[in-house]
Amino acid sequence: MDKMWSGRFSASASSLLDQFNASIMFDRKLYKEDIEGSIAHATMLTKQGILTQDELEKIKDGLSQVLKEIESGEFEWKISDEDLHMGIEKRLTAIIGDAGKKLHTARSRNDQVAVDFRRYVLRKNNEIIEGIKALMAEVLVVANQHTETLIPGMTHLQHAQPINFAFHLGAYLSMFKRDIERFESSLERNNISPLGCAALAGTPHNVDRKMTAELLGFHSVSVNCLDTVSDRDFALEILFNISTMMMHISRLSEELIMWSSYEFGFVELSDEYSTGSSIMPQKKNPDVPELLRGKTGRVYGSLMGLLTVMKGLPLAYNKDTQEDKEGVFDAVETAEISLEILKEAIKTMEVKAYNMEKACAIGHLSATDLADYLVEKCGIPFREAHFITGRAVAKGEELHIDLSAMEYKYLKEIDERIGEDVIEYLGLRHSMNARTSEGGTASTRTKEQLEYFANYLGEK
Ligand code: ARG
Repeated sequence: MDKMWSGRFSASASSLLDQFNASIMFDRKLYKEDIEGSIAHATMLTKQGILTQDELEKIKDGLSQVLKEIESGEFEWKISDEDLHMGIEKRLTAIIGDAGKKLHTARSRNDQVAVDFRRYVLRKNNEIIEGIKALMAEVLVVANQHTETLIPGMTHLQHAQPINFAFHLGAYLSMFKRDIERFESSLERNNISPLGCAALAGTPHNVDRKMTAELLGFHSVSVNCLDTVSDRDFALEILFNISTMMMHISRLSEELIMWSSYEFGFVELSDEYSTGSSIMPQKKNPDVPELLRGKTGRVYGSLMGLLTVMKGLPLAYNKDTQEDKEGVFDAVETAEISLEILKEAIKTMEVKAYNMEKACAIGHLSATDLADYLVEKCGIPFREAHFITGRAVAKGEELHIDLSAMEYKYLKEIDERIGEDVIEYLGLRHSMNARTSEGGTASTRTKEQLEYFANYLGEK
C-alpha cells in the first residue's frame, strides 16, 4: 500500500497492474523538464504565500539532489512508482520530509505531464531545426561545386530535359527549408503553459499561472484547462513535421540509392558510410539511405498511432494518453540520427560528374529545345513544332543518334524551315542555360537560388 493514491483502496495493486500501468520506464526521459517544472511551481506557490520560504529552499535542495542522483545513475526507478512524476516526488519526500508532501498543492499529474511533455517537444523542435540547417549547409557545399554539372532532369523516371546537379540539390534545399518553417510554426503555436490547470478544471488555490509560464520560458498561458490537460496536438504536430521531413529525406535517399547503382553511377558513397555483403565479396551497399527510407515508415507509424489513440477520447485526461510518449521519443531520435548521418553521407560521397554528363547524351534531352526553336525562329505554332520534333526524335531512334548530336542534314530533311543555327540550340549545355525563367535551371538562375539558401542559413 505504498502508492501515493492508495487512500481509497483496501488491497494493494497487483504486480501485473503495476507493470501494465507504468510509464516510468520511458517517461523518465522527461526528468529534467519535470524537476524544472516542480521548481517553477514551488517558487510560484511561495510567492503566493502557499509555501514558506523555508519549504521552498528544502524543495529546491531536495530536487537538486534528485537531479544529481538521476544523472549519476544512482536513482532507483521503480515500476511500482508508476511514472516519473510520482517517482521523483516520492524520492523528494524521502529526502526532505513533510515539505515534499506540499509540492503537489494546486497541481495534478495531468497538468504536470502536459508541461513536461510539451517542453520536451518544444526543445526538440528547436534541436531538429538546427539539425536540418546543418544538413542544408552540407548540401549547399556540394551544390556550389556543381552549378555547371549536367544531369538528366527526369519525369516518370525518364530522361526529360538537361538540368544541372546543383539545381537538383536545390530542390531538396527548398523542401528542407519548408520543413524548418513547419517546425517553427509549431513552436510558435504550442508555446503555451499548461501549469495551473490541475486535473481538468483549474484550482481554487490562488496560483499565478503567468509566473510559472515565464519561469519555464513559455510565451503565454493556455486559455481553457479542460482542453489543456487533454490536448496532444503539439505531439501530433512534431510527428507530422518529422514525418514530412523524413519523407523528403526518404526521397533523397531513394535517389542516392539509384545513383549509386552501376546503371546510374552518378555518386559513390564513401566507405565510411557503406556496408558490405556477408556472402558477395564485391558488394558495396547503400545501407544508410536504405535505412533512412525504411525508418520513414516507422515514423509514419508513430503519427498514425497517436492520431488513432486520440480520436475517440472524451474530455479530459484519459490514461490512453500515456501512449503519446514512446512514439514521439522514437520519432525524435530517428529524426536526429537521420539528419546527422545523411549529412555525413553527403559530405563524404563522391559525385561522378562525368557519368552524369554522359547520361545526358541519351534520351533526346534537347527535344523541347528543337520545338522551342521552331516556335521562336520559324514562327511555327507549338503543336506543329511538337510534331516536327517528334519526327526528328524518330529519325534519331532509327539512326541511333541522340538529337543533341544529330547532323544538320538530317534535320533539314525533316523540315526545310530548320536553319543551320539549330545545332547550337540542340547542345545540352545550351539547353540547360536557356532555361532562365525565375526558378529555372540555367546556371545563372541556379546560382541565385543557392545564394538565396546561403542567405537563409546566414552564410552570406
Ligand atoms: N503517466 C501519466 C501519463 O503519462 C501521467 C498522468 C497521469 N494522470 C492520471 N490522472 N492518471 O499520461
